[in-house]
Amino acid sequence: MSGAADNGAPPATRQYVQFVFYKVDPAWRRLPAEAREAAKREVEEAVAAGSERMQVRPYSLVGIRGDADFMLWQISDGLEAFQEAATRLLSTGLGPYLSTPYSYLAMTRKSVYVDKTEREPYGPSGGPSRRLRLTPGTAKYLFVYPFVKTRPWYVLPAEERQRMMDVHIRVGRKYPTVKLNTTYSFGLDDQEFVVAFETDEPGDFLDLVMELREAESSLYTLRDTPTFTCVATTVRGMLDALGAPGDALATEPEGDARGWTRVAAVDDVPPGAATTAYAGGEQVAVFNASGRLYAIEAHCPHGNAPLAEGSVDGTVLTCPWHGSRFDLACGAEIVRGPAARPPRTYAVRVVNGAIEVSLAQAPARAIP
Ligand code: FES
Repeated sequence: MSGAADNGAPPATRQYVQFVFYKVDPAWRRLPAEAREAAKREVEEAVAAGSERMQVRPYSLVGIRGDADFMLWQISDGLEAFQEAATRLLSTGLGPYLSTPYSYLAMTRKSVYVDKTEREPYGPSGGPSRRLRLTPGTAKYLFVYPFVKTRPWYVLPAEERQRMMDVHIRVGRKYPTVKLNTTYSFGLDDQEFVVAFETDEPGDFLDLVMELREAESSLYTLRDTPTFTCVATTVRGMLDALGAPGDALATEPEGDARGWTRVAAVDDVPPGAATTAYAGGEQVAVFNASGRLYAIEAHCPHGNAPLAEGSVDGTVLTCPWHGSRFDLACGAEIVRGPAARPPRTYAVRVVNGAIEVSLAQAPARAIP
C-alpha cells in the first residue's frame, strides 16, 4: 500500500513496524556455559538472517524493567518477515527459555496534522508527511510506549485538534535532542499508536514528557503505558547482558559486530545502475557509478526519498524528490541542499561475483 508523497514526489512505500519484548526464564542461567554460548551464536545467526529482509535494532532492558530483558525493533516491507524472524529465534537454543510479555505491531502513515514549523525532517515533530519510511538513528536510548486517545478526541472538529497539536508540536521543537517515531496500529493491534523516542539524553525526554502533560491535548490521552526504557546494543551485547554465574560481566560491546552481507550479484548492478537491499539490519542503496561501487543509507536524510531512484551524473547523486546532491566519491558529502547532512556511507566489496556490504567496516570502494 502506498501513500502520496510531498511536493509532487513519487509515492513511497509504507512499512510495517514491530517492537517485540522478550523475557528470559532464569533456568537459562543454569545451563552449562557451552550450551549458552552455542545458543547465543544461533541467535546471532537468526537475527542476521532476518536482517536480510528487514531493519533490526537490538536493545537491552536488563536491570531497567523486571518484566522484559530485551527488545527487537523491526521494520519491514511485509508482515511475513516478522513471523519468519520469530520462528527463527524460537528455534534457537534460547527459544525454550523465551516468553513475549509485550509485542506491538504498527505501520507508518502520513500524519493528518500539519507541522507549520516544519523546517527539516528530523526532530520530535519533524516531517510528519514524510514518515512513510522510518530511519532509526544511532541514539543510545529508545523510549517506547503504546498510545490510545479518548474517543471524544476523534469527534472534535479538525481545526480544534490541529490547534491543540500545534502546541504539542511547538513543545516538541524545544527538544531537538529527542527524535520521535510515530507509527499507527488502528485495527492492527490493541493500541492506536506506538511511539518511540530516540535520544542520548534521557533527561531531555523526561522534561519533554512533563511539559507535554500540561498541553491541552493531554486531556484526551486514554492510555500511554507501559513505558519501556531501552538501551541500544548489539545482538551479542543484548545476549551477554542476560548474565549467568561464572560469565564475564557484560560490558559495552566494542564496535559493531555485524559483518559482510551479500546484497546483489555484480551483474545485477551494471555501470549506471543502482539497487536497494538489506544489510546488517539496515536498508542500503548500492550504486555503480563510473565503474565503482558505493553503498549508502537507502533513504535521503532530508525527507526519506528512496535514493536508489535518484539520478547519478559521474559520481554525483541527485535525490529524486527535492534535488539534494551528494558526491558518492567523497563520502556522499553534500554538494547541494536542502539535505542538512549526508547519507551514511558503508563499506562495499566484491567476492566471487557478489556485491557485499558491511556496516561494521570503514567505507571503502571496489571495482567490479
Ligand atoms: S528527500 Fe528532500 S532532498 Fe531528498
